Amino acid sequence: MGKPENLALPEIGSHALGTGKLPVEQYVSQEFFELEKEHIFRKSWLLVGRESDIKAPGDYQNFIVDTLGVSVVITRSKDQKLRAFYNACTHRGARLVNAPTGNVRALVCNFHGWSFNLEGDLINVPDAGLFAELDPKQEHLKPIHLDVWGGFIFINLAEKPEWTLREYLKPLDDKFDRYLGNKDWSWSFGWRAKFNANWKLIVDAQIEGYHVDMTHRKTIAGAIPGSNTAAYYFPESVGVPCGVAAYRPEDVSRGMQTPMNLLSAKYGATSIYTKPERQFAAEGGEGVLKEDHPLWIFDNYLVFPNIVLFVQKGQILIQRTLPISADECIWEVDFYHTERPTSFGHVFNMEQGVIQIRDVLSEDLYTAEGIHANFKCGAITHVNLNKQEVPLRAYYNRLLSAIEQSQAKEKP
Ligand code: FES
Ligand SMILES: [Fe+2]
Repeated sequence: MGKPENLALPEIGSHALGTGKLPVEQYVSQEFFELEKEHIFRKSWLLVGRESDIKAPGDYQNFIVDTLGVSVVITRSKDQKLRAFYNACTHRGARLVNAPTGNVRALVCNFHGWSFNLEGDLINVPDAGLFAELDPKQEHLKPIHLDVWGGFIFINLAEKPEWTLREYLKPLDDKFDRYLGNKDWSWSFGWRAKFNANWKLIVDAQIEGYHVDMTHRKTIAGAIPGSNTAAYYFPESVGVPCGVAAYRPEDVSRGMQTPMNLLSAKYGATSIYTKPERQFAAEGGEGVLKEDHPLWIFDNYLVFPNIVLFVQKGQILIQRTLPISADECIWEVDFYHTERPTSFGHVFNMEQGVIQIRDVLSEDLYTAEGIHANFKCGAITHVNLNKQEVPLRAYYNRLLSAIEQSQAKEKP
């Protein structure tokens, strides 16, 4: 095997967004959290699920935006269209569905039995004659804006979203949409946990490479040295302010790959950190994946406000962090693959990948609660950022500009 060509790596980062310290007020202030709820979570496109999980007519998903206490029911009707509604009966406000998913012919309220079809129309009212005046047309379920990109369902709780989903997601373009929307993707594994920390600390830990050499010194720092993680920042983007790319070391023998990692990598690509000897078969990806670079491992992108999306060939990882309060959040991880394991080696590879990812993400998030406590008690009022941490500046800038722009629009 010859030495790979084109080993030059992209710039590691930039000081273009400034060099000063950043305040930490936005992680602990109750007032700031209220602004985030109103101007960010009520106005942004929020990723809530995967289109392929609501496949058949009658399938529904109940997604709760914990931050706002909003329960959303997403339905697939006979015309194959996906729709989203507030999970709220228009009679007296009961929730129509309580299970996270299901399949129904109609949404029937358990309180008094009003029924709605999957398009949200009121279709049956028990003893309708008891009402003095009732116009079923006025009692349609309250709709929520929904769109699909890359096979992922996004909702927007604004009355009139400021941007289409495609405008929002630039610079991720139609090529990404096609690659991630490929019907071969299916959910492989995931989990959910609660943290006593501000939600943005969970995101911050995934969008810079400066921590890798220290935080991951016992796991992946050999496979991905911090110096091989390049920062992305997109100041013009509404919904994708930043990200990180990861590359292998040029000297493949360097680092701390355990015998188990190396063995696993012979059979598949499930570990996101190890360049596999064997690639997943995955359709497309041209113009999305940097497969022509021999050292490239993955790209990740922050989909504002709360999703970190890792993209590889045949494997995507989504991390979603939803605040419950300024001091608590829910974190969810979901993996999708284009292939199902077909051999013992491949099953072993997937299981080993799960364990490795669990360990590495635990290392990433181990510091979050301590940082939060230090911000909250006032021990730390400002933080230092180097040029490799420019995604955190881009994220901070987007956070402030999203709030400012929304407030300006609301002024009479
Ligand atoms: S609240 Fe739903 S039928 Fe009464
Ligand atoms: Fe990390």
